[in-house]
Amino acid sequence: MARAKQSFVCQACGAVYQRWQGKCDACNEWNTLVEEAGATGQAAPLTSGGARLKKGRPFKLEGLDGLALDAPRLPTGIAELDRVTGGGFVRGSVILLGGEPGIGKSTLLIQAAAALAHGGHRTVYISGEEAAAQIRLRAQRLDLTHAPVELASETSVEDILATLSLGAAPKLVIIDSIQTMWTEVVESAPGTVTQVRASAQALIRYAKATGAAVILVGHVTKDGQIAGPRVVEHMVDAVCSFEGDSAHQFRLLRAVKNRYGATDEVGVFEMTGAGLSEVANPSALFLAGRDPDQPGTAVFAGMEGTRPLLTEIQALVTPSALPTPRRAVVGWDQSRLSMVLAVLEAHGGIRLGQHDVYLNVAGGLKIIEPAADLAVASALLSSLSGQPLPADTVLFGEISLAGAVRPVPHSGIRLKEAAKLGFRRALLAEAGAKDIEMQGLATTTLRRIGDLVSDMAVRALDKPHLPRTGENSRRDR
Ligand code: TYD
Ligand code: MG
Repeated sequence: MARAKQSFVCQACGAVYQRWQGKCDACNEWNTLVEEAGATGQAAPLTSGGARLKKGRPFKLEGLDGLALDAPRLPTGIAELDRVTGGGFVRGSVILLGGEPGIGKSTLLIQAAAALAHGGHRTVYISGEEAAAQIRLRAQRLDLTHAPVELASETSVEDILATLSLGAAPKLVIIDSIQTMWTEVVESAPGTVTQVRASAQALIRYAKATGAAVILVGHVTKDGQIAGPRVVEHMVDAVCSFEGDSAHQFRLLRAVKNRYGATDEVGVFEMTGAGLSEVANPSALFLAGRDPDQPGTAVFAGMEGTRPLLTEIQALVTPSALPTPRRAVVGWDQSRLSMVLAVLEAHGGIRLGQHDVYLNVAGGLKIIEPAADLAVASALLSSLSGQPLPADTVLFGEISLAGAVRPVPHSGIRLKEAAKLGFRRALLAEAGAKDIEMQGLATTTLRRIGDLVSDMAVRALDKPHLPRTGENSRRDR
């Protein structure tokens, strides 16, 4: 048998090197190489030669007759969660749930486990981080103490597999978290890439052999220092990420990879004092408490996966006393903001070189769509001019470097959501607009960024036209 060899493993991406070096050539991270023993350690073979031949035999795709097309699923009844998994956990599949520490992964999973256990399925929740008493305390807070979930505090994969083999095979096994697990197969310390990978491999083999759905929790840190769940991503059937800003109560569950469903689904939750609750109408929540009479805000009709989501974009443009004015962004891309500012200057004649610019997406949401360009530009112009945008207007559209306002996908769905929430006007790209059903909204179409600038200028000069904002506030008084 080969002697366990020392090698150096990148803790960020799992690349293996024979010698230490400062930078990982595979992922370009610095100081992530750690010496590990037996990085190539393999599990002992499970089956004998005869059984191997049988197992490895290929089968014909055409012979399946649609039998295996519908994977057997375990719906939790938590609609926002089931939507993301594609209708429930698939039996025998492994899901990796990633997210920053403290975001609510354990809370979500204990709630899901309780829901399934109440449905009569054997569910086992194994925590490598918290003692059983701590898990019970959380369950108490969530009012789930009567749920027949089996709890264990354990970190050895071999012990866990032995425990699970007692009694009927469980339907759902939750491992919280994969970073705390260790297996005797390899010698490295718990939390290293080698251990995480070997432990995940053993648990995946268990899922395939017994048909239990297994959920692995993986902590991700912003600087990627912890042996990442990234090395596990390609081994599992689905990867979900739980996101949000711990200062805000909103949480988004996204499918990043899903062998048994769509990857563009998003579940929206709200963290309350009694656990996570589902948010069926996220737009209303994200727009709650909005003050439309203030300049510098615009409502962006965005998409999260296949769902429309209306959010408020806030901008503050103030004269700067600094030689290099400040540009600060929360919830959007910094370089995208620089681009919009450059286009406003080059094609709209708006000079912001002497101004500090702050941009914020309300509610702690992170927007990645370029479709937000138009809303961002409008919020900036509104703040600069001190002129609020009409309160009943939504915007969406991408801005090109040449200053053109470009159409974006799913315009119909965006407008429908806006109409549903009581908005009456929309600003969007002219291109393709005639093919869009306007859902009863009065629309203004723009061809170039200059159109937006002159539109805002007209409003500033001609206040009586402006409108709804004025009318509303007058009515309020
Ligand atoms: P947790 O599920 O432990 O996060 P993770 O497993 O991702 O590390 O949740 C941690 C945070 O959630 C913690 O700061 C407290 C908060 N929380 C609530 O606000 N309400 C609740 O009912 C629970 C259980 C937690
Ligand atoms: Mg946790």
